[in-house]
Amino acid sequence: DWTMAAYREEAIRLIREQVGDAQVICGLSGGVDSSVAAVLIHEAIGDQLTCVFVDHGLLRHNEASEVVAMFRDHYNIPLIHADEADLFIGELEGVSDPEVKRKTIGRLFIDVFQRYADQIEGAGFLAQGTLYPDVIESVSFSGGPSVTIKSHHNVGGLPEKMGLKLVEPLRELFKDEVRALGHELGLPASFIGRHPFPGPGLAIRCPGEITRDKLDILRKADAVYLDQIRKHGLYDEIWQAFVALLPVRTVGVMGDGRTYEYACALRAVTSVDGMTADYYPFSHDFLGETATRIINEVRGINRVTYDITSKPPGTIEWE
Ligand code: XMP
Repeated sequence: DWTMAAYREEAIRLIREQVGDAQVICGLSGGVDSSVAAVLIHEAIGDQLTCVFVDHGLLRHNEASEVVAMFRDHYNIPLIHADEADLFIGELEGVSDPEVKRKTIGRLFIDVFQRYADQIEGAGFLAQGTLYPDVIESVSFSGGPSVTIKSHHNVGGLPEKMGLKLVEPLRELFKDEVRALGHELGLPASFIGRHPFPGPGLAIRCPGEITRDKLDILRKADAVYLDQIRKHGLYDEIWQAFVALLPVRTVGVMGDGRTYEYACALRAVTSVDGMTADYYPFSHDFLGETATRIINEVRGINRVTYDITSKPPGTIEWE
């Protein structure tokens, strides 16, 4: 795509001009936007860029190691893997209110990010994968009534607090253009086409009290479900798919014995922008096979349900 090739060259020139000799810090989440921003900036300024990946222990199975392998090992981008799972999960254990979960994670995220970023000498800039819709969203609703359904955490206010200027090389792009740029930069298609994943991660897919045990069960069930979706070639038809582990145990029977384990709900939706969504019409065969696999392969779950709520009135996440 010649347009993206030209955009890439121009963006690289502008990043060099803006940054000069300073060091740049980029918070990497594993999502498409911050990844494309990091690879682009690395192409512009090489090792003047350091990425900080805050691992809160609420990621999917293998996700942290995939992010580290790709950026540190494949792209050779200096990357600090802030493995702070014990800190986050320690503070979240026993917490059940969704907004308290989000606020706790948001607060710790900023603390941790700052602690690691402070170790980078000569840092002058903070890189963010802000897109054009993020830029306009922050002004377009001003004046109108606003209702907060869920408080999304971000690193707002952090640049000023740390005395850093912002580098936002994706500010003029829409999501599909960011994907095209990622493609132009050689990011694997499987990475560019990833489903969105919420900042608070598995914490909001574990309604009710969070425990390490529940997170482990959830992570395993989620991995089986996504494996099923990929095997059936459905991943790219779906906007988001995940398991929610329900805070309820149900009676079941396996072999000669009675079981008393957790129930889970599968969620899969189609959407254009996440604002509205329809549940995905899986075949009954797919659902049946997936339920059997989860119950056979994941200890701790003995019942599987499928969530057929659209948004509105539901939301995509359970919390
Ligand atoms: P809901 O559940 O509100 O989600 O229908 C809409 C989209 O936003 C994601 N989401 C979040 N993302 N922090 C995030 O970064 C959050 O606290 C959060 N809550 C929901 C959700 O996964 C979906 O893509």
